[in-house]
Amino acid sequence: MRSLALFLPLLLSACGWMWDQPKVKAFRESPLQVEVPAERVRLGENLSPGVRAGLKPEGGFAESPFAFTEAELLRGKALYQSFCAVCHGVRGEGDGRVIPLGVPRPRSYHDPAVKAMPEGYFYFAATNGFGRMFSYRSRIPERERWLIARYIKRCLLLEACPKEVVNAEVH
Ligand code: HEC
Repeated sequence: MRSLALFLPLLLSACGWMWDQPKVKAFRESPLQVEVPAERVRLGENLSPGVRAGLKPEGGFAESPFAFTEAELLRGKALYQSFCAVCHGVRGEGDGRVIPLGVPRPRSYHDPAVKAMPEGYFYFAATNGFGRMFSYRSRIPERERWLIARYIKRCLLLEACPKEVVNAEVH
């Protein structure tokens, strides 16, 4: 009992330390970040760990750190439709074709609380999973996860994406 009493604070502080570590690292911005060739920024080679997690340095979810072209947005649509739409539905209403088979029904992306979220929220869910939903980290590369998030936010929710992308038939 005495030894446990001695060890407990040690254990707790060890946990506390491990818990704090990633946070400290995640939000420390590198001074090297300032001047990076555009191509490396485009490919996300110099992203800080915080940005990689989908978060802003000051906290909260971030928008995508990548600039995507219209052609890429079209690919984002195709990726969304192959990886997410089976459950979330083609329009993001939570009515994908496997829901009637017994898969839990996700909240609609058009729910005001979801619609208001930055792209980082969708990226974060795809990266880490969300409740009963699995993570897609090992199945979809990082930049593509951001691309899907951009597609969801701009095209499904804000209707702020090119007509060509909205109208394209993608399977
Ligand atoms: C197999 C079904 C399935 C697939 C495929 C799927 N999801 Fe989900 N998703 C869910 C379910 C179910 C929930 C709700 C989980 C819960 O509340 O426990 C959810 C929740 C979410 C949420 C949180 C919504 C909220 O309520 O705030 C986001 C964001 C999300 N998913 C994004 C994605 C993205 C992006 C993809 C594709 C890369 C994807 N999901 C693929 C089933 C799925």
